[in-house]
Amino acid sequence: MARTLILSSLLLAASSANPISRDAANNTMVYSFDDVTPCTDLIWTPCYTNFTCARLIVPLDYAEPTVGNTTIAYIKLSSPTQPAEDILFNPGGPGGSGVDSVLNANAELLNKLGTSYNLIGFDPRGVNNSGPSLSCFPNDPASEELFASQIKRPINSKSPESVVREFEIMGAWGDWCSNVHRNDSAKYASTVATATDMLNYAEKKAVAEGTKPEEAKLWYWGVSYGTVLGSTYAALFPDRIGRLILDGVVDVETYYKGAWGDLSQSDEAVLSFATACQAAGKDKCAFYSSTADEIAKRMRDVLEDLRTNPVPVADPAISPVPTLVTYEDISFTLFAGAYVPFKTFPMLAQIFADLEQRNGSSLALAVQAQPPTALDYGGLLACMDNIKMPGVYNISTMELWEQHIEDLNNQSKWAGDPWASVALLCRKMDIVPPESQRFLQVPSANKTSFPILFIGNTVDPITPIVGARKMSGLFPGSVLLTQESVGHTSLAALSECTSHNVQQYLEGTLPAANTTCKVESAPFITEV
Ligand SMILES: *[C@@H]1O[C@H](CO)[C@@H](O)[C@H](O)[C@H]1NC(C)=O
Ligand SMILES: *[C@@H]1O[C@H](CO)[C@@H](O)[C@H](O)[C@H]1NC(C)=O
Ligand SMILES: *[C@@H]1O[C@H](CO)[C@@H](O)[C@H](O)[C@H]1NC(C)=O
Ligand SMILES: *[C@@H]1O[C@H](CO)[C@@H](O)[C@H](O)[C@H]1NC(C)=O
Ligand SMILES: *[C@@H]1O[C@H](CO)[C@@H](O)[C@H](O)[C@H]1NC(C)=O
Ligand SMILES: *[C@@H]1O[C@H](CO)[C@@H](O)[C@H](O)[C@H]1NC(C)=O
Ligand SMILES: *[C@@H]1O[C@H](CO)[C@@H](O)[C@H](O)[C@H]1NC(C)=O
Ligand SMILES: *[C@@H]1O[C@H](CO)[C@@H](O)[C@H](O)[C@H]1NC(C)=O
Ligand SMILES: *[C@@H]1O[C@H](CO)[C@@H](O)[C@H](O)[C@H]1NC(C)=O
Ligand SMILES: *[C@@H]1O[C@H](CO)[C@@H](O)[C@H](O)[C@H]1NC(C)=O
Repeated sequence: MARTLILSSLLLAASSANPISRDAANNTMVYSFDDVTPCTDLIWTPCYTNFTCARLIVPLDYAEPTVGNTTIAYIKLSSPTQPAEDILFNPGGPGGSGVDSVLNANAELLNKLGTSYNLIGFDPRGVNNSGPSLSCFPNDPASEELFASQIKRPINSKSPESVVREFEIMGAWGDWCSNVHRNDSAKYASTVATATDMLNYAEKKAVAEGTKPEEAKLWYWGVSYGTVLGSTYAALFPDRIGRLILDGVVDVETYYKGAWGDLSQSDEAVLSFATACQAAGKDKCAFYSSTADEIAKRMRDVLEDLRTNPVPVADPAISPVPTLVTYEDISFTLFAGAYVPFKTFPMLAQIFADLEQRNGSSLALAVQAQPPTALDYGGLLACMDNIKMPGVYNISTMELWEQHIEDLNNQSKWAGDPWASVALLCRKMDIVPPESQRFLQVPSANKTSFPILFIGNTVDPITPIVGARKMSGLFPGSVLLTQESVGHTSLAALSECTSHNVQQYLEGTLPAANTTCKVESAPFITEV
C-alpha cells in the first residue's frame, strides 16, 4: 500500500494524546482540535501542554469560493527565541499527519532544524484533523475495521490466489470509495489544493503580523511525498519561496503518472542489513553468520519457507487470538525496516533468528505495531493527483498486473512483492478534482525566489538519489546535499553535518555544490 511511503507510520512514535477538555476558549489549554475554533484568520489557542493550535477556514476551491469551505489544522511548537520564522513540515504519505509528527516526533525534527524556528505541523487536506473527509466508511468504524482485517499485507507473487485477490479487492475498494464520494467534497483534496493552502498560511501569517500578504513567502520542509507537495508548490508559486527543503526526493514525474516508487536501490538497502549484522558480530546481532552472503542466504531461506508455510502463534501473551505470521508479513516488515535501518535492524535480527526456529512471536509483535494496511487515504489522494494525467500508468487487466509484478521483481528481489500493489491503488478510483486543482505536468521552475535545498541519502530503498538529481535539475539554482547513509530521508540517521548545512541554509547560506555528509548513526550500535 501507499502506506509504505508514509513516514509517520514507520518513523514516528505512535503515541496519541487523549482529548479531554470541552471548553473552547482561546486561552484555555485544549487537547483536541474539536475545541479549536475555526477562523479565516490565524488565531492560536494553547494546546497539548507545549503547543498552540489553529484551524483556518479555507475555500474548497480557491478559484470558485462559492462551492464551500473546509478547515485546515495547524500545530505550532514555538522557538524559545522570538520573533522566529514558521517552518511548515510535511511527513510524507500522501496521507501523513504533520500534526502527529510535530506533536509526537518533534525532537527528531528539531535535531535537524535547530531551535531558532517555530515548527508548524499541519494536516494536509483529507488527513486527520483537516477536511474534507476522505473516509470510505463515513461514521462506520466497525465496517472500516472489518475491511481492514480482510486486507493482507501485499503480496506473495508465487501464490496465484494472492495475486488475483489483491487485484480484485483493490478494484472493489476503488469502486466503493468512488461511489461513496461521488457527489461530495472529497475531490477538493489534491496536492495542488494543499499547496495553495500552504501559500494561504503564509499570507494569513503576514496579515496577523501586519505585513503585506501578497509578498509573503513560505518556509517549508517536506520529506518523501512532502517533496511532491513542495516541488508542486515551487512550480505554482516560484516567487513565493522563503526556504524550501525537499528531503527523500520522489521522482515527481513518475508520481504524477501513478507509477511512483523507484526500487533501483531497494536491494542494496535491504542487504545492508546482512553486511551490518556480520560487522556488528555475534553479541550485537542475533542473526549473525561469519559472512554477509551467508546471512543473506538465510534471510532468503526464511522468506521462501514462509511463502508456503506460515508460522502459527498461539501465545496469549503475544496475541489475543491464535494467528499466523506469513511471507507477506516478513517481506513487508523487512522492506519497511530498510527505511529506518538504525532503528529496526536489531529487531529484524531477532525476528529472523526466531523465524528460523519457526517461532513467530517477535514478528507477530512487530506486525501488531504496524498500522492497519488499507485505511489511510493516501491512495485516494495519490489517485486524485494522477487521474487526468496523460500517459498515466493504468493496470486495467490481470495480464498487465502479472507483468507489473514480474517487472518489479526483476528490479528488486526484496521489494518487488511488498511494493507491487501501490500500482493498483488507482485501478478503479474515480475521484476527479476540479480543473483548477490539477497539475498535469512535471513540476519545474527556471527561477525561484530562493534556491531549493534537495537532500538525498546515498542508498534509499524507495527514493534513490537519482530522483533527487533529476528534480534538482528541474529547478535551476537549487542545490543537492547528499547524506552518506542507508535509509529513507535524512531523518533515517543522525548527522551533525546535515543538521549544520540545513541550519546554514535556513540562515541564507547554501551548501557548496556536491556537499556530502557523513553520519554518526551506526547500525546495531545507535538507535537512530
Ligand atoms: C491526529 O491528530 C491527533 C491530534 O489531534 C494526534 O494525536 C494523532 O496522533 C493524529 N493521528 C494520526 C493517525 O496521525
Ligand atoms: C476567540 O476566537 C474567536 C474566533 O474563533 C475570536 O473572535 C475571539 O475574539 C477570540 N477570543 C479571545 C478572548 O481571544
Ligand atoms: C512538554 O515539554 C516538556 C519539557 O520539554 C516535556 O517533558 C513534556 O513531555 C512535554 N509534554 C508534551 C505533552 O509534549
Ligand atoms: C466560507 O467562509 C467565509 C468566511 O467565514 C464565508 O464568508 C463564506 O460565506 C463561506 N463560504 C461558503 C460557501 O459557505
Ligand atoms: C449523485 O448525484 C446524482 C445526480 O444528482 C444522483 O443520481 C446520485 O444518486 C448521487 N449519488 C450519491 C452516492 O449520492
Ligand atoms: C519465541 O522467541 C521468543 C524470543 O523472541 C522467546 O522469548 C520465546 O520463548 C520463544 N517461544 C517459543 C515457543 O519458543
Ligand atoms: C485504463 O484502461 C481501461 C481499459 O483499457 C480504460 O477503460 C480506462 O479508461 C483507462 N483509464 C485511464 C485513466 O486511462
Ligand atoms: C524479467 O526477467 C526475466 C529474466 O531475466 C525476463 O525473461 C523477463 O522478460 C523479465 N520480465 C519483465 C517484465 O521485464
Ligand atoms: C524554462 O526555460 C525554458 C527555456 O527558456 C522554457 O522552454 C521553459 O518553458 C521554462 N520553464 C518554466 C517552468 O518556466
Ligand atoms: C558535482 O558533481 C557533478 C556530477 O558528479 C559534476 O558534474 C560536477 O562537476 C561537480 N561539481 C563540483 C563543483 O564539484
